[in-house]
Amino acid sequence: MMGMPMEVTDPYGLLSPERRQNPYPFYARLLREAPVHFSEPWGAWVVTRHADVNAGFRDMRLSSVRTGMFSQGMSEEVVRKLAPMNRNMASWLLFHDAPSHTRLRSLINKAFTPRMVEALRPRIQALVEELLDARRSKEQMEVISELANSLPVIVIGEMLGLPREDRYRLKQWSDKLASLIGTGRPTLAEVEGALGAILEFEDYFRPLLAQRRTQPGSDLLSALVQAEEHGNLLSEQEVLSTCTLVLFAGHETTTNLIGNGLLALLRHPEQWELLRGAPELLPDAVEELLRYDSPVQFTNRVAAVDLELGGHTFRKGDRVMLMIAAANRDPVQFSNPDRLDVRRKELRHQSFGMGPHYCVGAALARVEAQETFAALLRRFPRIQVAPGAVPEWADNVGFRGLLSLPVVLDPAT
Ligand code: HEM
Repeated sequence: MMGMPMEVTDPYGLLSPERRQNPYPFYARLLREAPVHFSEPWGAWVVTRHADVNAGFRDMRLSSVRTGMFSQGMSEEVVRKLAPMNRNMASWLLFHDAPSHTRLRSLINKAFTPRMVEALRPRIQALVEELLDARRSKEQMEVISELANSLPVIVIGEMLGLPREDRYRLKQWSDKLASLIGTGRPTLAEVEGALGAILEFEDYFRPLLAQRRTQPGSDLLSALVQAEEHGNLLSEQEVLSTCTLVLFAGHETTTNLIGNGLLALLRHPEQWELLRGAPELLPDAVEELLRYDSPVQFTNRVAAVDLELGGHTFRKGDRVMLMIAAANRDPVQFSNPDRLDVRRKELRHQSFGMGPHYCVGAALARVEAQETFAALLRRFPRIQVAPGAVPEWADNVGFRGLLSLPVVLDPAT
């Protein structure tokens, strides 16, 4: 870990390998013993209670302007080298406060209204069927590489109007960005990887943008270019940055909702059976899966002024981690929080954030997950985790997702 002195301690094991396998006992301990504590390895205050995380998301004294933290502790020379990365990320709406956040957000909101997303449902259904038909074997499937990785990147690629054959490249660049953003404190290698990815993203998008200027289509890329050309709503850098952000934010997370969600259901066969008998429960089930094993485990803020939250006083400049996945298991908010219950009604999970930065793509992610689980329930009602397979988790503390999930589609009884 970059610049981490030897004496730094991790008393709650947040960076331990055991946490990667199953972070929830660690969060339960934090909720009981230290609901707000300073984590030395992260150099940040970790906030875990549902009420505090929810209030934190809505509290404008906690600023989202935080790109500087990715090059914290690095030499001036490295920071200079990283300038193109910082330039790109400085225009991500995720890292803005009002009023610039409001301006950037209002433009992309238009592409993601629930009505527009609902109109994509038939296309998403068809893509799921296509991917399932194209699986390598009739009897088995590796869900992550054959389904969960592909669907979200194809969907977001189609929304932007990108050639489908580019999806593997886009995925590789996104993975590098995920290593930067999801670690809380990236290593120099992770920062350099992300820099390379951002440069490739920009080189990739530039000619496509030029092409949309002369031949606009009905895709999101054309809409962004028009916002740049007419009315000067966006600068070219803002268009490039928004494309990078939407691509990045739009698929890794959804891949992980499909993977984590399916694993949770297969580990609770009685819940799978319940859904088989009552597929109308699927929308609630997806919310419960988001709560139960959140694809985004935490996000960061910076105190813009001295402020009090959760009985703790933060000082201006303090870094504050809102621990979404811990809040989702807070027994004060959710009865029996470690139990997966697709009929649960108290669904105020924090997995898409809250407040002004509430996930732009929430409706899209929901439809993708609902349609994936619906197709699996219908086509492979007896699906099981492959015998002997040990699901492997990615080495990323912020984005929780599986590297692989082998299943048997129709096991002999
Ligand atoms: C913001 C989670 C899918 C685009 C966020 C935030 C969270 C989140 C927690 C708020 C971060 C913060 O406040 O710091 C998720 C999860 C997803 C998902 C769990 C899937 C299960 C998507 C999709 C898209 C998307 C499909 C786009 C196609 C965005 C964007 C933002 C965002 C652009 C920034 C919004 C802003 O700053 O105003 N997401 N997301 N996300 N998400 Fe998602």
